[in-house]
Amino acid sequence: MIKKINSKTIKLLKYYNLINFNLIYNNKAINRFQKDNFEISEDKLKSLDILKKSIINIKNCDLKKQAKNIVFCDGNPKSKIMLIGEAPGANEDLEGLPFVGRAGILLDKMLKSINLDRKKVYISNIINYRPPDNRRPTDEEIKRYLPFITKHIEIINPKILVLLGSTAMNALIGNEVVISKMRGKWIEKKFGSCKTSVIVTFHPAFLMRQPLQKKMAWIDLKMIRDKKI
Ligand code: URA
Repeated sequence: MIKKINSKTIKLLKYYNLINFNLIYNNKAINRFQKDNFEISEDKLKSLDILKKSIINIKNCDLKKQAKNIVFCDGNPKSKIMLIGEAPGANEDLEGLPFVGRAGILLDKMLKSINLDRKKVYISNIINYRPPDNRRPTDEEIKRYLPFITKHIEIINPKILVLLGSTAMNALIGNEVVISKMRGKWIEKKFGSCKTSVIVTFHPAFLMRQPLQKKMAWIDLKMIRDKKI
C-alpha cells in the first residue's frame, strides 16, 4: 500500500532537507572543524606546489644536502587547524612526512583525545629538512626557513594555528616569550594576509620526557576543542 503524503509532511521534509544540508547535529565547537565544506582551490594547490618547489630549490643549505627527503606537510590542506612542529627527525626524513616517529604517535593520540586526526588537520614544521642527529635547528637555519613557513601559513589560511614547542613558538611569535608563560593562551596573529588564532602547547617529544606536563597539554587541547571559530 502506498502511503499518501500530506502537504504538512512535505513541508516538514523540505525543512529537514534544508536544515540537514551541511548541518552537524551536535553543534559543539569541535564538530564544526569536522565539516569538509572548505573547497581546496586550484590556486591553493598551485601555491603549495610552488612553495614546495622553492624550498627544494634552496641554495647552500647543509640540512638539505644531508637529508634524504623534504618533509613538507601532511594532512588536509582544507583544514581550519594547522599544526607546526620544529623539524623532521630520522623517521620523518625517511618517509618524507612530518610526525611519523614516536612523537608523531603521541601527537596522533593527542589529536584523538579531542576527536581529531591527521586527516582533519594540516601539519608542517618550521624546518623542512632533518637537522643531523636531531639537533635543534640553529638561529640561522630558522631564519632561512622562516619565509617559507610564513608563506605556508598564508596559503593554508587556518583559523587555528597550533605551535608545538618552543622552537615553533619562538620562530613565529618571537624570542622574548617563554613556553611556560605562553602556552594555553589564545593570541591573534597575522601571517601575510592570514589572520589566525594562535595557541602554543608543549611539543609531544617534550611530553614524552616530561609526562607530568601532559595535564597542561590536555588543558590546551580542550581549549582547541572548545574554540569558537
Ligand atoms: N618533531 C617535530 O617537530 N617534527 C616532526 O615532524 C617530527 C618530530
